[in-house]
Amino acid sequence: MDLSRSAEWSALVSHHHDIEKTAISDLFRTEQDRNIRFSVSSPGIHLDYSKNRITARTMELLLDLARSTGLEKKRRQMFGGEVINFTERRSVLHTALRRPPGYSMVIDGDDVSAEVSSVLDQMKSFCGKVISGEWRGYSGKRMTDVVNIGIGGSDLGPYMVTEALKPFAHGSLRVHFVSNIDGSHLAETLRGLKPETTLFIVASKTFTTQETLTNAMSARDWFLTGAVDRAHVASHFVAVSTNRKQVEEFGIDAENMFRFWDWVGGRYSLWSAIGLSIALYLGFDRFSELLAGANAMDEHFQNAPFEENMPVIMAMLGIWYNNFLDARSHAIIPYDQYLHRFPAYLQQLDMESNGKRVDRVGRETDYATGPVIWGEPGTNAQHAFFQLLHQGPGIVPADFIVALKTQNPIGPHHDMLVANCFAQTEALMCGKSEAEARAELEAAGYEGLELRMLLPHKVFPGNRPTNTIVLDELNPFILGSLIALYEHKVFVQGVVWDINSFDQWGVELGKQLAKVILPELDAGKAIGSHDASTNALINRYREFKASQPLKGDPQLSMFD
Ligand code: F6P
Repeated sequence: MDLSRSAEWSALVSHHHDIEKTAISDLFRTEQDRNIRFSVSSPGIHLDYSKNRITARTMELLLDLARSTGLEKKRRQMFGGEVINFTERRSVLHTALRRPPGYSMVIDGDDVSAEVSSVLDQMKSFCGKVISGEWRGYSGKRMTDVVNIGIGGSDLGPYMVTEALKPFAHGSLRVHFVSNIDGSHLAETLRGLKPETTLFIVASKTFTTQETLTNAMSARDWFLTGAVDRAHVASHFVAVSTNRKQVEEFGIDAENMFRFWDWVGGRYSLWSAIGLSIALYLGFDRFSELLAGANAMDEHFQNAPFEENMPVIMAMLGIWYNNFLDARSHAIIPYDQYLHRFPAYLQQLDMESNGKRVDRVGRETDYATGPVIWGEPGTNAQHAFFQLLHQGPGIVPADFIVALKTQNPIGPHHDMLVANCFAQTEALMCGKSEAEARAELEAAGYEGLELRMLLPHKVFPGNRPTNTIVLDELNPFILGSLIALYEHKVFVQGVVWDINSFDQWGVELGKQLAKVILPELDAGKAIGSHDASTNALINRYREFKASQPLKGDPQLSMFD
């Protein structure tokens, strides 16, 4: 289908011309029920999308566009396990990981539901043993610290969730995350930990990721500085992977491996055994609540009519701004410190999924696809980049996320947090006109040249769109739903843009080139096989290394 030449697309282009000059705040003046009409709820989550540059007609046209792309069918194909990730020849079935017990699904002769529940049972039993202290380390002590070693989807989801749900942790285990190949990440994480009470989870779908395997090997060296006997690795290292052979080659007992399947994409894997660190930190029951929350959103996404379907609405609003109002980025502003890793998590979810420039038949698209996703928690963000949101050129649509109930009711803090969240969306929408700014300056005693000089700097154009997502509380169930909401939003956008949201070939080239450069850093002679810049950078580093006095094994000296 030629998306940008379709009747539905053209209708949106001309509709945009019609309402280009309409201010959101004017629409509020004429539509008394606007906030009701443009709000939708699912269990624990309320989305108010009334502060967007839309009319009822805009939504109608956007939903027409969604329908015209076969969204309903593609949604059925995903949930039904069809091979929609066609460049990797895989189904996309992360939703099967959070189905309640008792359903049945067979894919390629494999009983998916039985496999999922058997791994969940294994996780439950393991978590029970580690949390209760039945699982002992080599010196007979119980585990106090869990270190998850993984990167990308094997890190961002579990890290974000454990940070978000800190108040729900049972408190008998600390959890740490090591992802970066920068040795400082591992060194700083291990400082203060003891090998005899530390459990490592090596989390890697492929078990071939350079960063994860190198960090795991260095962690094992550190562990052996205390444990000495390699046989003790068995009670301190477990693996989560689809690749049993590589796990065994690494030296982890297959008994201590938690499997998942190639129909779970890395960035959609926190619901699988990749969530083991979450289950250990919160307890298995809390992990189950997270899954139940995601399942509730899956149900909503599958069953709610498009007009009331939260992921569809958010996706189509994103398309409205990206494709018809030229907004190339989207900000995520959680007014919740516990969600401080949520924007980083969404960056992978969204940008690795929809950062594609060719459509499903391989043609370069003549329309924009995945936007840049970015953000930070409020109120910090207000004192950092909100200047650009309010007065910068162009618009940056933003999602504001806030919980009604705080986990830490200290004095006026939560009221102040909430007031700032609501005030910012109001300010972004209303702005401050030249007349209002002038009146303020005059009231402050400015006049003449000075007033005229200051005036343009004091004007806020307004009409800047936001969604407000109000959570009843940031608890495991609602967080599960919130994450699934964004997963499905990304799915819908990928369908409309006609791209494959489930591969990630774009991460490969840099990995390949790093493998070429790595041995060159120790080459005896100058490197000249790259472009002049890359050669010079490599040679500069080679020369620096050569100038350093020889040390012992750098691997071990890190842990001296
Ligand atoms: O490099 C990107 C990526 O492949 C992500 O898609 C994935 O989440 C991450 O690396 C980690 O991969 P793995 O779990 O196989 O180590």
